Amino acid sequence: MIMNFELKTLDLHAAGTHKTDALIILVSAKDKPAKSVLAQLISDARKSRDLDESPAKFLSIWRPQGVTAPRVVLVSSGDGSARVLRQAVAAAVASLKAANPAHITVCLADATQNRLQAAAQAVADTSYVYTATKPSAKASDLKRVVLALPSVEQTKAAKYDFELARAQVAGVLLAKEWGNRPANHATPTHLADVAKGLGKKAGMQCQVLGPKDIEKLGMGSFTAVARGSVEPLRFIVLQYTGAAKTVAPTVLVGKGITFDTGGISLKPGPAMDEMKFDMCGAASVLGTFEALAHLKPTINVVGLIPTCENMPDGSALKPGDVITSMSGQTIEVLNTDAEGRLILCDALTYATRFKPSAVIDIATLTGACVISLGHVRSGLFSTSDDLAHALFTAGEAALDPCWRLPLDEEYAEGLKSNFADVANVAGRDGGAITAAKFLQRFTKDFPWAHLDIAGAAWKSGVAKGATGRPVGLLLHYLLGTQKVSVADKAK
Ligand code: BES
Ligand code: MN
Ligand code: ZN
Repeated sequence: MIMNFELKTLDLHAAGTHKTDALIILVSAKDKPAKSVLAQLISDARKSRDLDESPAKFLSIWRPQGVTAPRVVLVSSGDGSARVLRQAVAAAVASLKAANPAHITVCLADATQNRLQAAAQAVADTSYVYTATKPSAKASDLKRVVLALPSVEQTKAAKYDFELARAQVAGVLLAKEWGNRPANHATPTHLADVAKGLGKKAGMQCQVLGPKDIEKLGMGSFTAVARGSVEPLRFIVLQYTGAAKTVAPTVLVGKGITFDTGGISLKPGPAMDEMKFDMCGAASVLGTFEALAHLKPTINVVGLIPTCENMPDGSALKPGDVITSMSGQTIEVLNTDAEGRLILCDALTYATRFKPSAVIDIATLTGACVISLGHVRSGLFSTSDDLAHALFTAGEAALDPCWRLPLDEEYAEGLKSNFADVANVAGRDGGAITAAKFLQRFTKDFPWAHLDIAGAAWKSGVAKGATGRPVGLLLHYLLGTQKVSVADKAK
């Protein structure tokens, strides 16, 4: 179902006669609305203590007198932060699930930065239904989402934030959808087809390399990982050109392991199905390009996606094997389950040819990162304080947060090998950091950052599913690199 977002001016008075299937009204104790049916309703509900001021608690009213909309959901916007607003909107939208409205209107009292986005993302996330391989699932009927602000001035000022919100929703949706698809429905070839589709959009270009080209490039490390699988590997090169060709691009590198069995160092059975999500880094790059196609910012971006399966087989890579990376460094593979870094290192070497201003890789790289940071913040590593700061700030703004971890040289001790230039693992301790130290060896030519999204990319348990992270973070970061921001242009 394609969801259309609209930005509209509606104060509480106008909202009373607005035609929609459901009105969600964010209320705050600070509001001093002019007299109207809805304002009266809110004030009465408060007086009778039926309207809780704590966020994510809502009051549903069916066919209130004098109101055109058949359903009204009052929900407190709490402290006014984007984070709480997201919770509040999500709770309100979830309460409408049974009614399955085609048209929702969300009335916000104001739209300070990021709140519009938080509201839009909450509506989209809450109404998302995975149907690709589940015909029995009832897709949401939601077609039209109106985000309303009380004054014309506010609507005008929010124009750019609204476009950004819309683009982010589209990008997150794409990342989520491809993250969720099972490995037999999301092969390297499928991901390459998604990229080719994006490549047809304005300002976009896409090139897909197959086994022969990849071998010719000397990507011995990437090739070695793919060897145990019958699915052919792909190397995807996406390019978005929104600025002069002379402007150095940002390169995004996404880990695209469409299924990670661990290879010969086979993973244990329980929850192994979740290793279909091991391409969420790749999906986030695809999602970010989708968003760029919507916004057309004045920047250049390259997306690189090495994608393959990690399978055990007669021809699979074995523990102890020594392989030669595109950089020329040899790697002793002590554990075939540390495959992400083996495909990323060749992509990082390839990135050099773009003379990038920065390279950011995004990967579901280590279980150790999940132990460190849980499912709230992605792990952030960087050789540049400026880049780290910009990514951190972007994560805060997008409600897609990350946290910086160190890269002290001492952490690389364990990667020493008697048989190759470097080993691919260094034991359990500090596993997220030692993985980053491995990658760092391939990033000498540019400022580099690494996002370990192992804990952020998907949810387990009953809510099992991809989150679409960190598309929001990446999009905010990229927009921040513009010389003249789109926000200024829009004015
Ligand atoms: N894709 C996994 C990382 C992962 C595991 C993410 C569990 C989320 C949940 C990665 O390829 C992997 O297997 N990493 C190993 C590295 C180890 C062998 C050094 C890990 O984390 O166990
Ligand atoms: Mn693995
Ligand atoms: Zn993996």
